[in-house]
Amino acid sequence: MPRMIRIFDTTLRDGEQSPGASMNVEEKVLVAKQLARLNVDVIEAGFAYSSPGDFEAVHRIGCEVEGPIICSLARAKPEDIDRAWEALKDAPRRRIHTFLSASDIHLKYQFRLTREEALQRAVAMVQHARGYVDDVEFSPMDATRADLSYLCEVVEAVIEAGAGTVNIPDTVGYTTPQEFGRIIRTLKERVPNIERAIISVHCHNDLGLAVANSMAAILAGAGQVECTINGIGERAGNASLEEIVMGLRVRKDFYQADTQIRTEEISKTSRLVSNVTGMVVQPNKAIVGANAFAHTSGIHQDGLLKEKSTYEIMRPESIGLTQSRLVMGKLSGRHAFREELARLGYSLSDEELQEAFDRFKRLADQKRELFEEDLEAIVSHAASKVPERFSLRALHVESGLHRVPTATVELNVDGQVIQKTGTGDGPVDAVYRTIASITATKSQLRAYIVKAITGGTDAQGEVSVRVEQDGETVTGHGSDTDIIVASAQAYLNALNKLASVLERKAKSGEKVQLC
Ligand code: KIV
Ligand code: ZN
Repeated sequence: MPRMIRIFDTTLRDGEQSPGASMNVEEKVLVAKQLARLNVDVIEAGFAYSSPGDFEAVHRIGCEVEGPIICSLARAKPEDIDRAWEALKDAPRRRIHTFLSASDIHLKYQFRLTREEALQRAVAMVQHARGYVDDVEFSPMDATRADLSYLCEVVEAVIEAGAGTVNIPDTVGYTTPQEFGRIIRTLKERVPNIERAIISVHCHNDLGLAVANSMAAILAGAGQVECTINGIGERAGNASLEEIVMGLRVRKDFYQADTQIRTEEISKTSRLVSNVTGMVVQPNKAIVGANAFAHTSGIHQDGLLKEKSTYEIMRPESIGLTQSRLVMGKLSGRHAFREELARLGYSLSDEELQEAFDRFKRLADQKRELFEEDLEAIVSHAASKVPERFSLRALHVESGLHRVPTATVELNVDGQVIQKTGTGDGPVDAVYRTIASITATKSQLRAYIVKAITGGTDAQGEVSVRVEQDGETVTGHGSDTDIIVASAQAYLNALNKLASVLERKAKSGEKVQLC
């Protein structure tokens, strides 16, 4: 029997720390429901103390998402732990995850604590959290740069204080597989009460080793891995869930370990996270990249035609990748639309359903056949709704060889109709400059990405943009069969999100940082 490794998904917390990947509460609930379908063991839904938005996300996910344990991060401070409990108290299965650095570099320069003071605080905060919940996780941050004997002491003390999981983070992506394996084995050998807790690992990808380090830790005895969909996360990201899960599944013979993940949901989860965060998956990314199963070499194709196992170590179907399935057309009604969404695993409120159905009808007028991916894009847009200060009423663009690209844009701005004409280097530039002039935005456009959702010249173009103002970065999306319209919608979606983020920030102050 393979050992079962727990999957702790931190897409909504550490993943959301990727620059520009911030998600609103509705988007987080949508992703959390999909993570439950994927069958992860734990969802880290946010850092409740950090902002009212994170608090609400943890609370709603705790109430609305069935199956996995729902967890909130909390610094080793009573007020953080109290807030995590407030957010989690209605969740049937809940965990508080508290953390404090263990490395001398962090303790000396950042926290200004001695090792002894940090150890006492860690113990006191684990006990405080245990006053609320039975399931407490403790992370000695920057563990891979900590003194190993001190790390053993901390781990022993927090287990004694009631932590059921001790997570060993490679916070700055510094370790190597051999070294990390040795650290985990040392904890197992030297910490007398280690069998009373599950050892977890949490690896960052600064040197491209997050997955390799996590796998080495599993071989050395770790029982939980913390990871994110598509490997998104702070800086170079976190260990990618899909790579760890498929690594264990395909090489069960080697690792003698597996997970309870429903791998057929991987592809869909990856697309959803990419749609919602606007973080495009690189085509050559293992498991979920567009080229991950594309064989182009003649020799490989010849082998595959003769026998799939010659060049294929896993089937695309095992991660839920099938031929784009035609699901609906122009004549499909509201009932069929709802049924199809239910089959894909989405349940929308009446209001969301109406909005999604209107969008579907508009799209069906432009595009003869609609595929699963089209419906997924419609649903993720319905979830990312924000109060609309700005909306598009009309758009006309002229461009071509030896012409100055010119855009006439009509927007509804806080209920007032404004029309302007402007020029630019190309049609999208002309539209963006004109929108910027109408909305008087002070933001900077940081990224513009366009991709086709399905194949064919009538495919929907999906545009994602990232805009920044006053240290806040948001992502906007738009999809349409006309990519200029999709571009305008993506920009307006980002400007609407930015307006609500800046307004919330002005009301409730800055988001609390992790340290
Ligand atoms: O990378 C890290 O150390 C973390 C901790 C909060 C677990 O994200
Ligand atoms: Zn982290």
